[in-house]
Amino acid sequence: MYELNMAFNAIISALIVIQSALCLPFNTLLFRIDNGASVFESGDDMYTVMWSTSLPGTGYVTYTYEGEEHTVKDLHNASLRTQESIHSVRIPKEHLDNNTYTCHSQYVGTRRAYVAIKGRTVSTKPVKFRGYSGQDKINVLVLSDIHENPGNAAKAVACFENEPDLLVMNGDEVSFMTAAYKFKQVLSYAHRFSGGSIPVVYTNGNHENRGEFAGDYIDLFKTTTGGLYYTCRYGPIEFLCLDSGEDKKDSDWTYSGLVDYTSYIADETEWLQTVELDEDAQYKVCVVHIPNIKNRYGNNWVDILADMGIGFLIGGHKHRINFEYNQNGAPFYQMLDGGKSRDNGYVATMLTFADGQINAVCYDNEKNLRGEHTYSFNEESPSGEAP
Ligand SMILES: [Fe+2]
Repeated sequence: MYELNMAFNAIISALIVIQSALCLPFNTLLFRIDNGASVFESGDDMYTVMWSTSLPGTGYVTYTYEGEEHTVKDLHNASLRTQESIHSVRIPKEHLDNNTYTCHSQYVGTRRAYVAIKGRTVSTKPVKFRGYSGQDKINVLVLSDIHENPGNAAKAVACFENEPDLLVMNGDEVSFMTAAYKFKQVLSYAHRFSGGSIPVVYTNGNHENRGEFAGDYIDLFKTTTGGLYYTCRYGPIEFLCLDSGEDKKDSDWTYSGLVDYTSYIADETEWLQTVELDEDAQYKVCVVHIPNIKNRYGNNWVDILADMGIGFLIGGHKHRINFEYNQNGAPFYQMLDGGKSRDNGYVATMLTFADGQINAVCYDNEKNLRGEHTYSFNEESPSGEAP
């Protein structure tokens, strides 16, 4: 495989050298940005900006903050990552919030000990990014279980009157993760629905665990926990984002004996027991793909989440709408959406946080209003009837 890659890169590099000499447009056709930027929450008051190019190369983000120009590179230790076409840069949230940024990549065909063949540099348009700016109402668009059907998600999203301030992608956005191109699909959805101009809260679905790239893609988020679990803050909302792993045992035939979610979830549970959410957060929200938090590989997360004051859980996985209080004995609300089942289409949700309440509105891809519900945060009983 290494030799094949080298041969491919040598051919592309030769083409680029020849076309440069002859002033032909191959460079433009061959190396381009194929997925625009998305800004992911990744914990520790940082964002992870990701985009992708048609071929491998470098990645860096430029912006000006407090009068100073910044260039943040996609590095692996001290070395620029050049073997991948998905680029990932971590930037402090205070630098990016309500600021403008641009992503750049330069083609790198061959990188040897003392020489590298490099091609053109491509850049995104400057993107104006909207972080929290003290607004009274916060609109959160929730897209779970797209399962490679972004057109239907777009039809549902078009029904909402309000523009989102934040996008939640709650897992199973693709049905498997066999190679980098599958995560590029996820990036295409993230960019399509966020434009790179609002933060994206992303969690891992069980389907994204299936395939050889499953472990690698999580590294691209560069979280300090090492897994796809973290906390993040948007104004008065504090999110606890969890990775629920798979929906079957490690020993199931599906995984060919090549996974160990038992250990991964045990590590996550250990981390979870150390998390202290901000006392000042008005809304404490858990985002997790599989809503069965009572039993994650033998770990019961219900009491842990209750003790940290979680008041609302956004789940997916079930491909149906559900509004429920006290599910699994958890003393908070749970909302499920997303996906499509045999008898109905894709359902998207807009959550509006305001005045200590959350208003949920759900539309499907046929433009039908599929549910509306208001939650009074941290009350002992639901304020409205689930439809
Ligand atoms: Fe799922």
